[in-house]
Amino acid sequence: MASKSFSYLLLIVSLKMSKFVLLLSIKKMNKIKKIAVMTSGGDAPGMNAAIRSVVRACAYYRKECVGIYRGYQGLIEGDFETFTARDVNNIVQKGGTILKSARSKEFRTKEGRKKAYENLKEHKIDALVVIGGDGSFTGGVIFNKEYNFPIIGIPGTIDNDIYGTSHTLGYDTALNTAVEAIDKIRDTASSHNRLFFVEVMGRDAGFIALNVGVGAGAEEILIPEEDLGLDRLLESLLKSKRAGKSSSIVVVSEGDKTGKNVFELANYVEENLPEYEVRVSVLGHMQRGGSPSCFDRVLASRLGVKAVELLIDGKTNLMVGLRDNKVQATDLEKAIKGIHAINTELLRVSDIMTV
Ligand code: F6P
Repeated sequence: MASKSFSYLLLIVSLKMSKFVLLLSIKKMNKIKKIAVMTSGGDAPGMNAAIRSVVRACAYYRKECVGIYRGYQGLIEGDFETFTARDVNNIVQKGGTILKSARSKEFRTKEGRKKAYENLKEHKIDALVVIGGDGSFTGGVIFNKEYNFPIIGIPGTIDNDIYGTSHTLGYDTALNTAVEAIDKIRDTASSHNRLFFVEVMGRDAGFIALNVGVGAGAEEILIPEEDLGLDRLLESLLKSKRAGKSSSIVVVSEGDKTGKNVFELANYVEENLPEYEVRVSVLGHMQRGGSPSCFDRVLASRLGVKAVELLIDGKTNLMVGLRDNKVQATDLEKAIKGIHAINTELLRVSDIMTV
């Protein structure tokens, strides 16, 4: 009898407890009523798909959504617009960013950040989603420390140089754009028996160069993470000439370690290997434009939803990314400070392919 009434008591307590937990989580969910989204730093294909995802996830969870134009500069200047689910129709396939992007010097000052905070308060915005690279996340972390303002980052840069995600938004599209361009360069290189140096983007990271180099069948790949050395470059080019190759492609990352820019490299090779007729092609900003690949659109949609859900759940200072093909959160500071290492196995594969 005693044990029966004890079990009954336990049941009542646990029911009351779960009601309490439910009320607590509803309270936490209700704390976030209005979420702002911005794009910052270098643009990347897939940013529009991410904006769309944030706006639609807000609509789904009945939260208001505000778009901030021109990144942190627009935040300082109060360049805001309310976005409903229908305002982001027909943008999933568009390159660039409808919210525009900027690099704000003013946000680096205390006064600038104060203005930004006052604007957010005035518009009753409770949380911010920042789509950008490590520079944009650094601004977010400082702002959060000063004002305890909830922030979630979505990695958007073609360089793929962010820790905590295998892919950043725009990287896959940029790879495809660059490979397509190099395929075309190969046609003319082969018609004229020429050696082409093709420079791809990646100020500090060789992800684009390495993958595009393997994908487009380059003779050599020069990246910031590995110093091939000029002698080895000459040796390798000589070897391919002797192997009977009449034309060649060398893919050079913007930030490669030879100490020479791509034009100086071309001159150096022409002076030392007169048997080669050398040309240079710099792909440049075309790699940042164009319609996002399906991969980037899907990634953007997944990351946008997760960013909104984390904020509603009371989380902050995180970056959403893709690890083991699962959407996972990483501490925002760790995402900035950590090193996303390149896959060196690809260098070995490239070597074998150029036998
Ligand atoms: O988006 C990243 C990146 O493409 C780098 O690889 C490049 O060095 C840089 O942006 C150039 O950006 P901007 O011309 O906008 O200064």
